[in-house]
Amino acid sequence: MEIKIERTAAPKEKPTGALGFGKVFTDHMLVMDYTEGKGWHDPRIVPFGPISLSPASMVFHYGQENFEGLKAYRTDDGRTLLFRPYENARRMNNSCDRLCMPKMDEELWVECVKAAVREDLDWVPTEPGTALYIRPFIIATDPFLGVRASNTYYFMVILSPSGAYYSTGINPVKIYIETEYVRAVRGGTGFAKCGGNYAASIKSQTKAHEEGYEQVLWLDGVERKYIEEVGSMNVFFKIDGEIITPSIADGSILPGITRKSCIELLRNKGYKVTERKLSVDEVEAAAKAGKLEEIFGTGTAAVISPVGEIKIGDEIITINDNRIGEVSQWLYDTLTGIQWGRIEDTMGWTVEI
Ligand code: COI
Repeated sequence: MEIKIERTAAPKEKPTGALGFGKVFTDHMLVMDYTEGKGWHDPRIVPFGPISLSPASMVFHYGQENFEGLKAYRTDDGRTLLFRPYENARRMNNSCDRLCMPKMDEELWVECVKAAVREDLDWVPTEPGTALYIRPFIIATDPFLGVRASNTYYFMVILSPSGAYYSTGINPVKIYIETEYVRAVRGGTGFAKCGGNYAASIKSQTKAHEEGYEQVLWLDGVERKYIEEVGSMNVFFKIDGEIITPSIADGSILPGITRKSCIELLRNKGYKVTERKLSVDEVEAAAKAGKLEEIFGTGTAAVISPVGEIKIGDEIITINDNRIGEVSQWLYDTLTGIQWGRIEDTMGWTVEI
């Protein structure tokens, strides 16, 4: 499909200094329409800017939308790499399926992402630890107030040169275990990357911030005792040499691409990695027995984020003396080494633009 390009007449100044996460946007964005009966059509790159939608657009009322997150990395020899973009395309299609939204051919999806990045290639930042964060998303655009699936949608790709997600960088974060609210339940939308999941998490996150914690660790919505995921990351525990991460089989946890990559890297390295149910009681008992060796989160935005402290009720557990652990450091170095092209990609994960 031909992607038309309308270039901006007023390119913006590139940011200087610390980028933070998701605050700055590039000169262009990609937009494509979906119309029932016609399918996805008319992909185009246009200047980044406000879009015009009817206030009755269904996305505003019933939240029929979903999004993805991936990054473009600039290598030392000047290439630009995407990391496992077909995984994002597949996950977006799974989210679409759950939300009764139209799927897209994976090749077309990746081509749109590549075209958007290619147009703003000089926005891919080069400072250590920085990348161009790519946010593809789909919104329902029918102007209609009845509850049903929309017949029209926009697919958009916006780009944001970004640094570390947490202001702490790779230093350990503090996490608060939420015991009152839940994020998802079996049969719900937990596995889908839809805005509503995140909207519903903000109340807990605000509470966590008020208490000095960066993120919330969610428990399962049924028994409220099994660990699920952290606000913007999946979570791993190293207990007595074994690396454990909650199983995604129930469909209430986001199937993270960084999560999947870490499991594959760790297993290749010879670590025992188990995907299973892990209760807070088991974590507390391991901590008491001195066997809780590491906790870390994984995510596209967060990369590898060691956890130095968790709070459950009034109890505070410090992990590895609040220092980054051996496994977290190895994973961070290996994953970012592959992403920035410094370590040979023997897994075929990177896609050059
Ligand atoms: C990502 O890691 O790409 C995410 O989508 C997390 C986000 C909610 C910041």
